[in-house]
Amino acid sequence: MTLLVTNIKQLVGVREESVLLRGKALAQLPVIEDAYLLINDGLIAAYGEMKQLGEWANSIDHTIDASGQFVLPAWCDSHTHLVFAASREEEFVDKINGMSYEAIAAKGGGILNSAAKLAAMSELELLRLAWSRLEELISLGTGAVEIKSGYGLSVEAELKMLRVIQQLKATSPIPIVATFLGAHTYPLAYRENHQGYIDAIVHDMLPVIAEENLADFVDVFCEKGFFSPEEMEQICSAAQQYGLKPKLHVNQLNSIGGLQKAIALNAVSVDHLETMTEQDIADLAQSHSIGTLLPSAAFFLRMPYQPARALIDAGAAVALASDFNPGSSPSGNMNLVVSMSCIGMKMLPEEAINAATINGAFAMQLEQEVGSITVGKRANLIFTRPIPSLAYLPYAFGSNLIERVMIGGEFYR
Ligand code: NIG
Ligand code: FE
Repeated sequence: MTLLVTNIKQLVGVREESVLLRGKALAQLPVIEDAYLLINDGLIAAYGEMKQLGEWANSIDHTIDASGQFVLPAWCDSHTHLVFAASREEEFVDKINGMSYEAIAAKGGGILNSAAKLAAMSELELLRLAWSRLEELISLGTGAVEIKSGYGLSVEAELKMLRVIQQLKATSPIPIVATFLGAHTYPLAYRENHQGYIDAIVHDMLPVIAEENLADFVDVFCEKGFFSPEEMEQICSAAQQYGLKPKLHVNQLNSIGGLQKAIALNAVSVDHLETMTEQDIADLAQSHSIGTLLPSAAFFLRMPYQPARALIDAGAAVALASDFNPGSSPSGNMNLVVSMSCIGMKMLPEEAINAATINGAFAMQLEQEVGSITVGKRANLIFTRPIPSLAYLPYAFGSNLIERVMIGGEFYR
């Protein structure tokens, strides 16, 4: 089926080819004013200025008039934990009441709390909950998403989570990539036996994951009190033998060499980065890894934001993602993430939009499929309400400025 979108006020993120954006290039967001967009079988087929629209346009049976609307690539959310059993708003209130992280953990809070609830839930129920979160994200403009395991922490429960992600992948209208995060924290039984749990990951989980093709990437939470850089290396090296590339949680709470180890492991992305020394910033800028910034996690945990400006100015490639999870970012709203990055981290609107689309696509290795208005890519698009300018999107934070979301050339609900 062929569909023609006409009179687009501004077609945003038009690129002949996909290039990872770093440094000054991140602020370059090519647009076409008063544009048309041709979509064929769910893929972008052509685009240009309205005045260049030829006679052929008359023979198209489906036409949509997008007068007054901006059309941009749907968000590429490259870091989420959206499969989980239960929300954790009790912890949120406990924290407001002054309870410490340790006290909350002692009450059964944190990742282990999520793991206990997930272990008790059926695969079908987990799938049902995750599906409704995914539907919400799509209606908020997300057109591709990465989803991690990591609330299983046992062979059985990690595989259950990954099978849920596999089913989401098989039925979702948007592309999904799966990341194995068995190394999210040490389960209680292995508190004093870290090597025992790493052995379980390497010998009991990874072979089954590879056999059933349950993951595209591997992740490790590298922090003091969680996994050390050396432990991360053991896990990533084993995973790499099965073709899983690393996308790693580093430098959220501490700078302990996780970033440098991740770069040495050829990580596709290094995610969080709230705690960065000058050396860390310089090392990331020199590397091939993408720095994935998660401002909503910093906001929710009342931590300083990631040093986006220093990273961009040093020449690092950065992406923006939601970190959607019940503990540190109970929102997968990428519109808010884009706003927060402009407000809290002084990213320019163009930089934020690029970081949340094309660079996010690169951080999932989906850059040939999504993230820009490029011939051959999926027509996963945001159609805005009438807005005065592109900068109005992050500026008017909290307003719903999306009129409709298009996925594969069809309007979503
Ligand atoms: O990315 N930091 C580690 N993992 C999550 C939070 C997990 C949780 O509290 O459930 C994150 O922020
Ligand atoms: Fe995370």
